[in-house]
Amino acid sequence: MHTENIEKMSGHWLLAKIGKKVLRPGGLSLTKKMLSMLNITSADDIVEFAPGLGFTAHMTLEKKPASYIGIDAEQNAVDYLNREFGGTSAQFKLGNAAESSLPEQSASKVYGEAMLSMHADHRKAEIIQEAYRILQPQGYYAIHELALRPDDLDSNVKLHIQKELALAIKVNARPLTVSEWTTLLEKGGFKVLKVETAPMHLLEPQRIIDDEGVSGAVKIAKNILLNPSIRKRVFQMKKIFKKHEKNMCAVVIIAKKE
Ligand SMILES: C[S@@+](CC[C@H](N)C(=O)[O-])C[C@H]1O[C@@H](n2cnc3c(N)ncnc32)[C@H](O)[C@@H]1O
Repeated sequence: MHTENIEKMSGHWLLAKIGKKVLRPGGLSLTKKMLSMLNITSADDIVEFAPGLGFTAHMTLEKKPASYIGIDAEQNAVDYLNREFGGTSAQFKLGNAAESSLPEQSASKVYGEAMLSMHADHRKAEIIQEAYRILQPQGYYAIHELALRPDDLDSNVKLHIQKELALAIKVNARPLTVSEWTTLLEKGGFKVLKVETAPMHLLEPQRIIDDEGVSGAVKIAKNILLNPSIRKRVFQMKKIFKKHEKNMCAVVIIAKKE
């Protein structure tokens, strides 16, 4: 993880550094909805794109799928995951979700959270194509991402939000509107089955308590208060999330390979 410089560190690793485990926009509640809609059983071969710290991987493995493979682009994340999940059947591989090198039609369900939003539109489409390639026919693909709203949001406002977000989280985030997300999946050959949204409250106190528990929230608050450079970054992110709250949300989409 990039921990060398607080100023330049990407928002998700900065939040991970201070103890935040839930790093996706809709929080634990939307992740639970996604998993419940995916209905993972012992018959499933699961692939997760960008497991990060493995928060959702833990929940998936509780469902005892036939197999689980996580593909993450960061060596440090993969090393951490291999330590954290040592002794389980889970496999974690270093790789790019756009070219996972997994065999064609080898997964029954694929999901990824807070990762497509970090990529340019052509790369989003490549990752969706890769999900399609590795899925069996009738397989399911779920995404949990950052979205802009309403669907007819003025393109200048969209660009402005994307620019401010990128500056605050130090990641070139490119969220889409809910209808743009569904169109992208449909263009990739998927049939969209369900769409759920939630407010983008990643750094709101109540969401932090809901996601991390009271003791987790206290630890995060202490880390923020005791470190001025971290405090500055976190407050800046929170300010931008709050400023654009009305035009941002989290979205989960469940799609099927037809
Ligand atoms: C914001 S975190 C999200 C992690 C996790 N999904 C979660 O919701 O907590 C971003 C993670 O996505 C991974 N990532 C981003 N783009 C990727 C790609 N194209 N292929 C694989 N992993 C990717 C990064 O390495 C990082 O671990």
